Amino acid sequence: MLGDITPRDFLRDYWHKKPLIIRKAFPGFTGLMTPSELIELSLSEDAQSRLVTFDKEKWSLKEGPFEKRHFKKLPKSWTLLVQGVNHHLASGGRLLKEFDFVPHARLDDLMVSYAPDGGGVGPHYDSYDVFLLQGMGKRRWQISSSADRTLVPDAPLRILSSFEPEEEWVLESGDMLYLPPKYAHNGIAVGDSMTYSIGFRAPSNIELAREFLVYLQDHIEMEGMYEDPDLALQDHPAEIGESMLEKVSEVLLRIRWGKSDVERFLGIYLSEPKPHLFFDPPDRPISEKRFVEAMGKRGVRLDPKSQMLFTQDHLFINGEALSFVGLDEEYLKSFADARSSPAASTDPETMSLLYQWYRDGYIEIGEEGDD
Ligand code: SIN
Ligand code: CO
Repeated sequence: MLGDITPRDFLRDYWHKKPLIIRKAFPGFTGLMTPSELIELSLSEDAQSRLVTFDKEKWSLKEGPFEKRHFKKLPKSWTLLVQGVNHHLASGGRLLKEFDFVPHARLDDLMVSYAPDGGGVGPHYDSYDVFLLQGMGKRRWQISSSADRTLVPDAPLRILSSFEPEEEWVLESGDMLYLPPKYAHNGIAVGDSMTYSIGFRAPSNIELAREFLVYLQDHIEMEGMYEDPDLALQDHPAEIGESMLEKVSEVLLRIRWGKSDVERFLGIYLSEPKPHLFFDPPDRPISEKRFVEAMGKRGVRLDPKSQMLFTQDHLFINGEALSFVGLDEEYLKSFADARSSPAASTDPETMSLLYQWYRDGYIEIGEEGDD
């Protein structure tokens, strides 16, 4: 899929560093859905969609969910973008699997765009790594290494005002362009065009810090309380005195965390479903006994919305943390890697856990591609 470059060489020479064009990365790939199926998805509450139009030299942006009428009177240049298509389309999840040479913890989602001839979202840069895979039709991609980040003023989306292409290609079905973060690019539909963006997430440091502090708030343990047997008479009763400041500073300096806190925090944070995602537990769940039998015959797979990650000692699923102690660690780790398993585990504890996940709507009976 990376042409004649191995994943190892790609990571060393291109990932997070420089663009790469790969002709026929997915030979024969023409897309996973039609424009009308994408429009249909953008009408749903569960999908995050945006409609970008360019008319009379003016950019506009509308957020979904949309109604059919939004697609009736559009200017000549427009683009519909739908985020998280892998949560709704099993084939989208299978496409993401092809990018398994990057850890699941870095993967964000599959975004699909549709634009008629001439449509695009304007020259811009993204803050994440992205593979732009051409589905239906063609798209002209222009890129620039320029660090000029001047934006078009008052536009509802970030458009670079002084974008000058240094290189350009017309991507055909199955061709793919990899771009590292902050690399300026501009995609223009050549005829009816659909692009599949495989995006990778990279939280900002401030987001990591804030989220870690939220985690710490719930997990911190501290003994004792404020004590001042040495209280001295103050000139100003309203003043927060030096000795009080010192005592409190000492207490705060005692806040400690270790690698295991970072491990648990990161697993919970990275596997947490996005706020708009909800799981659908089975309406009439089968019994645990029948579940075990069915899994033995047909295997199991993660719901497309589920995120399952692990560290050496812990397993994380959809924002929950578990220790591997007492569980079939090998089975669970390979289930997480493949997002599916052809068989049941022989360990009853592990099967009870999987049954609970089934009842929560986190997993489904049947191996990937079984549907
Ligand atoms: C698109 O698919 O139209 C835009 C994708 C991007 O430039 O990030
Ligand atoms: Co972009």
